[in-house]
Amino acid sequence: MYYSRLPHPSDNSTIIRANMTDVGEIPGDVSPYLKEKALDIKEDVIDEEKAIGQEDVTEAVNPDETKACGGEAGSSEANNLYRYVQADLFTSEIFKVEIQNLPKFIGFNDLKKFLEKHRLNPHKIKLFGKQTFAFVTFKNEEERDKAMKMVHGMQWKGRTLSVRLAKPKADPILRKRGRDEVEGAGQPPLKREAEEDKEPLSVQIANVVTPLWNVPYEEQLRRKQQEVDGVLQRLAREIGNTNKAMLPWLFVQKEKYDRKCCPLDDIRPSPSQTEYRNKCEFVIGIGANGEEKTIGFRLGKYKGGSCAVVGPSDSIHVTTEAKKLVSEFQKFIRTTPYSVYSPETYEGHWKQLTVRTTRTKEAMAMVFFNPQKLEENELNALKSSMREYFTEGVGKESGVTALYFVSEGQRQSSNPEDLPCELITGDPCIREEMLGLQFRISPHSFFQVNTGAAEVLYSVVGEWAQLDKDSTVLDVCCGTGTIGISLATRVKKVIGIEMCQDAVNDAKVNALINGLSNIEFHCGKAEDVFQMVLNAVVSSSVTAIVDPPRAGLHSKVILAIRRAENLKRLVYVACNAKAAMNNFIDLCRSPSNRVRGAPFRPVRAVAVDLFPQTMHCEMLLLFERVDYTSKSASDKQEDVTKGT
Ligand SMILES: C[S@@+](CC[C@H](N)C(=O)[O-])C[C@H]1O[C@@H](n2cnc3c(N)ncnc32)[C@H](O)[C@@H]1O
Repeated sequence: MYYSRLPHPSDNSTIIRANMTDVGEIPGDVSPYLKEKALDIKEDVIDEEKAIGQEDVTEAVNPDETKACGGEAGSSEANNLYRYVQADLFTSEIFKVEIQNLPKFIGFNDLKKFLEKHRLNPHKIKLFGKQTFAFVTFKNEEERDKAMKMVHGMQWKGRTLSVRLAKPKADPILRKRGRDEVEGAGQPPLKREAEEDKEPLSVQIANVVTPLWNVPYEEQLRRKQQEVDGVLQRLAREIGNTNKAMLPWLFVQKEKYDRKCCPLDDIRPSPSQTEYRNKCEFVIGIGANGEEKTIGFRLGKYKGGSCAVVGPSDSIHVTTEAKKLVSEFQKFIRTTPYSVYSPETYEGHWKQLTVRTTRTKEAMAMVFFNPQKLEENELNALKSSMREYFTEGVGKESGVTALYFVSEGQRQSSNPEDLPCELITGDPCIREEMLGLQFRISPHSFFQVNTGAAEVLYSVVGEWAQLDKDSTVLDVCCGTGTIGISLATRVKKVIGIEMCQDAVNDAKVNALINGLSNIEFHCGKAEDVFQMVLNAVVSSSVTAIVDPPRAGLHSKVILAIRRAENLKRLVYVACNAKAAMNNFIDLCRSPSNRVRGAPFRPVRAVAVDLFPQTMHCEMLLLFERVDYTSKSASDKQEDVTKGT
């Protein structure tokens, strides 16, 4: 039995307009159902807070701003602006401090490193241009108090730091509404609405989720190529500043490669430019047309003051299978008496639907539901009705092969893996085929969102790594083991490192189902386990392939790589090359007390387009250890080209 369908004003509509805040996967992100994709990359966020809507209200601001925009903190209006901090979802805004009297010209990374050096664990850091103060949030009171005690009075570059508690940021949607009311008071409401509705919803949403949808694909590729070109020019300048011994080499490189530090191959296009995403995170909310219970993408960012949702039917990067599943799921939730969750009032239940599809025609759906004050028996009835709907009812045709119910209400932790995730029906995992290999994928495991383009990416990695039967490959941030597994038959041994336990379990199974026995996987943060793993490697020919989340690798990992003399070659897969710049610089900078071991230098680079219709792409950078005693592969390659 499932809930009988309640009459709804949009009954006759075919739905449709979806909207999404997140699109372009910004790969590399750790928490699969959260923000691997958000379009705006918050480089100041160390560890994502994820709850839909909630995430955007947590960015630190000057607390004084709350007065300017939201009235006095004691008024009921102002209380509303801060109500989100009392809701049951995790937000680090309640553990926020302001650090004052910082040295001039320090950046986000300097402050992050400084805090980490003192064993503090910041969650988010916000600096304001050239100001000498910063807002820092922590995951809990204990970490915040420890930071306050330790940092207050500390000396840094001749300045005495001081720390005080800071107020959380005001809820942006309520703040915007307040502003709109003030600003729009003199204008007829109809005129304002007409201005906002200039474009059809399908265009508005396309502009949000696939901002390059109306740019020819060749031109999209040209822009991405140019972006990566700029990164290599910047890296050339940075290497010049941080490693004087490389200047003669750099001078030649820059001459040869148009101010870049190494040659840049032509960008590799995605085999499919539409319907390429195998994973989408849909928001469940009120439709932009006023339709209730709509599954799709957010038209605006919560931060920008909009919660309206538009269905994915016109979104060109979403697969037909995912659209069908969304449509069936939407029908189901409309049969239930439960409303959508409102990030504004924190009331309601249905929050998010994550859909993953595969080439093998399997599909995983994870629905996020806030139980609020529902009793256990009500929740059980809902889950039973969902099971029945998708196994015996109309939903049988949805294509779902793994259906999960995720209770997202009482979350005290910032780790999405801690949420109760219950299999309602089907298999616990889905399986994908890639490069002729099989991969099992669990709900929390990362998998590249564009399978065809990931094959291109992994093929280039394999080509550039120059492996042979004596090689040992370190696959750092290995997810379900895809890169290492695709290389295993060519080498002596593969060692994977990954912090997500479910992904490690998948990786072990994936090695087995592909008949590979020369692979081992270690679960842990790379910064915690890399050195230990490396110590156990006896091989003299070690190649590292690193594919970290968008913030890049912890500097501890880079320092360990520098110290490992048997590690001669490194392929860096960067989903945000700008954010990985510090890693690139540290790999190449002169040796010092902090950075021991011979430097690396960049040998070649290429972009691979995993995210058509968006500005994002992956960048691959091959580094080789500078070896003054023998010629590096790049020198040899050049000799061959010159015929010497
Ligand atoms: C961009 S994904 C790459 C995964 C894999 N290489 C692939 O292509 O599918 C980054 C992976 O790094 C993991 N990760 C994030 N931070 C990590 C850390 N500090 N140490 C180890 N793994 C980490 C994530 O869980 C995720 O699986």
